[in-house]
Amino acid sequence: MARKSAMAASSFKKPERVPTGVPGLDSLIEGGFRPRSVVTLSGDAGSGKTTLAMQYLYNGAKNYGEPGVFVSLEQSRQSLLEDMARYGWNLAELEKKKKLQIVVLQPHEVDQFQNQELALHGVIEDIGAKRLALDSVTSIIMSYDSKHRARKGLLRLMDKLRGWDVTSLLTSESTTDVQGDVHSTFKVDFLSDAVLYLYNMRRQNYRLHALEVVKMRGTSINSKICPVKFGKGGIEVFPNQNVFK
Ligand SMILES: Nc1ncnc2c1ncn2[C@@H]1O[C@H](COP(=O)(O)OP(=O)(O)O)[C@@H](O)[C@H]1O
Ligand SMILES: [Mg+2]
Repeated sequence: MARKSAMAASSFKKPERVPTGVPGLDSLIEGGFRPRSVVTLSGDAGSGKTTLAMQYLYNGAKNYGEPGVFVSLEQSRQSLLEDMARYGWNLAELEKKKKLQIVVLQPHEVDQFQNQELALHGVIEDIGAKRLALDSVTSIIMSYDSKHRARKGLLRLMDKLRGWDVTSLLTSESTTDVQGDVHSTFKVDFLSDAVLYLYNMRRQNYRLHALEVVKMRGTSINSKICPVKFGKGGIEVFPNQNVFK
């Protein structure tokens, strides 16, 4: 009997994880995102949301063989390609290989986001995407005429994404007050499976970038606020360094 239970224990498989492609981040969250979860990435303007979202897809395709779809509701395709080229990422080349698909939605399409969902699912199926980034969900929220409708619409979208077998990263605009506490424009955080904050903190005469894992369902997290650097290959998190002296 004892032998049998020992065997059962050894054959217990650790749940799989989706590596984020961001050096330093996986060690804070048991190895990565949970498969098919919806992760919100909140932060101020200039905190690195678009960069991290694209890095998740770029490294996902390059290092883990997982195709990704990037849905841009704010930035044009050209400006995305140019901005990200600064990190040495050739997005057009990945698109040619069907490892990445950038979908840019125009404002009138955002207003009827529900009508885009079928097309979006088509794109996901077309390249066999395992990852999706949507930048930003704030644009979708603003397109609803009431908070109630926005909440319902968002819950529906998140359920769809989970059902489409992709692990999603949704960026969300927030503001940080003088105490350094983050305020989302809308409570996206409550609805998603995991929440990451990116900080762009002012220190006397410079700004300091940092990341915090606020919540992640089913995961033991390290919620220390960790310094972040924008390096040659994108964003890097430093779990062993301190933001506050
Ligand atoms: N090549 C680079 N090296 C270092 N920092 C950069 C580089 N390119 C952009 N940044 C910084 O990245 C930030 C913008 O990142 P972005 O992902 O667009 O932020 P967000 O989407 O949150 O507004 C800015 O703070 C900018 O200074
Ligand atoms: Mg952005």
